[in-house]
Amino acid sequence: MSTDERTINPLPSPLDGSTHVPGDKSISHRAMLFSAMAEGTSRVSGVLDSEDVRASIKAVRALGADVNLEKQLDGSLAGGITGWGAHGPRQPEEPIDCGNSGTTARLLMGIIAPWPVRVTLTGDDSLCSRPMRRIAAPLMKMGVRFEPDGQETLPMTEVGTPRLEPISYDAPMASAQLKTAVILAGVYAQGTTVLREPAPSRNHTELMLPEFGVETVAGKCTASVTGPNVLRASEVRVPGDPSSAAFLACAALMKPGSAVQVEDVSLNPARIGWVQVLERMGAEVSTMVTAHSGKEPYGILSARHTAVLRGVDVPAREIASMVDEIPVLSLVAAHAQGVTVFRDVSELRVKETDRLAAIIDGLTKLGISAWTHGDDLFIEGQPGFTAPEGLVFDSHGDHRLAMTWALVGLTGTVPVTVERFGSVAVSYPRFLEDIERLAR
Ligand code: S3P
Repeated sequence: MSTDERTINPLPSPLDGSTHVPGDKSISHRAMLFSAMAEGTSRVSGVLDSEDVRASIKAVRALGADVNLEKQLDGSLAGGITGWGAHGPRQPEEPIDCGNSGTTARLLMGIIAPWPVRVTLTGDDSLCSRPMRRIAAPLMKMGVRFEPDGQETLPMTEVGTPRLEPISYDAPMASAQLKTAVILAGVYAQGTTVLREPAPSRNHTELMLPEFGVETVAGKCTASVTGPNVLRASEVRVPGDPSSAAFLACAALMKPGSAVQVEDVSLNPARIGWVQVLERMGAEVSTMVTAHSGKEPYGILSARHTAVLRGVDVPAREIASMVDEIPVLSLVAAHAQGVTVFRDVSELRVKETDRLAAIIDGLTKLGISAWTHGDDLFIEGQPGFTAPEGLVFDSHGDHRLAMTWALVGLTGTVPVTVERFGSVAVSYPRFLEDIERLAR
């Protein structure tokens, strides 16, 4: 990953007009991984071309999938992927490097589980410090082995087994990566695998697996699948990423005179809890579903500058529906009247970096009071605050922090410096070009 620092200058004029954002990261990963598991050749389009998705592409190639994608004029990837189907993946010659991508590593753990292969998974320094036992624990109950025994972090070697036992599992946290790993392993187990979670996490797996011919029962906080089964090739058109669109929408809210529309963006309710929070804050944001891709709704997201925002209290059960947007929502909360509270955001401590500490650190630089009490995050807004000159933010190599702190410069009146800004390539490589184009 890049170590560069970047000076981010204020936008010369308000954001104005319509745009598209690159393909959804979560759906792109699943399109790659499910196509690789399937029998036959799947067709995919709108796939996000970013470092994280490339990690999934590299991984499935190493496991024997044939990936033929080409860059399109709009910057997305499209083409065909021939999976390993009922033959299973081949034994890779080397460890699989998942880079910065937690989704690649954790979903692969479920994918490898039912096959007689021995795979070492590794990643960059950030990924190698993130918790993995949360995935290994249920897979071990199904019969999978991990070496070294009891290890919490990558690198880790997984030894799959063709005699996978179905499980009924209560997940300790709402995590779509954990849910997906267990369900993907469950596709090959003899019987019904059930996963229950404390709050609903994103449901792209439950929506996409039936498109690959595998019936999946999805409730509000449960998912189940009955095996053994095999995925059959499908077609996936990836809509735009609402987590990327959030940066454009929040920029428009904060920059006087702005009004933007993001088209063809995923409006899956499990992903746009942040829009509802902004509405409750009094922001002028709205969504309109125009079509579906498979079972995934997508459409238009609109946002315009809102001078008066109020603090809100966001309950724990909603957090999973905005888990990746809390850094940028925290910056918006800094402009609001009153205190904003995000309840039980402990998961933020184990993202690409400790986002909770990083949010408090960054907001403190801006002169905004932000603190935690237990696992709750508090931000005391200061309407009309302006950033002091010469601020330097450390993104900690975390793409969502890099974009959040860049918005301080872009929507404010003085430039800021963002260290390791190149990390935006993980999810939104053309972030700066897109936002600057809207302000021309
Ligand atoms: C993701 C799930 C979330 C999210 C991550 C992508 C996914 O992680 O933060 O960016 O694609 O399933 P958790 O499962 O750890 O909540």
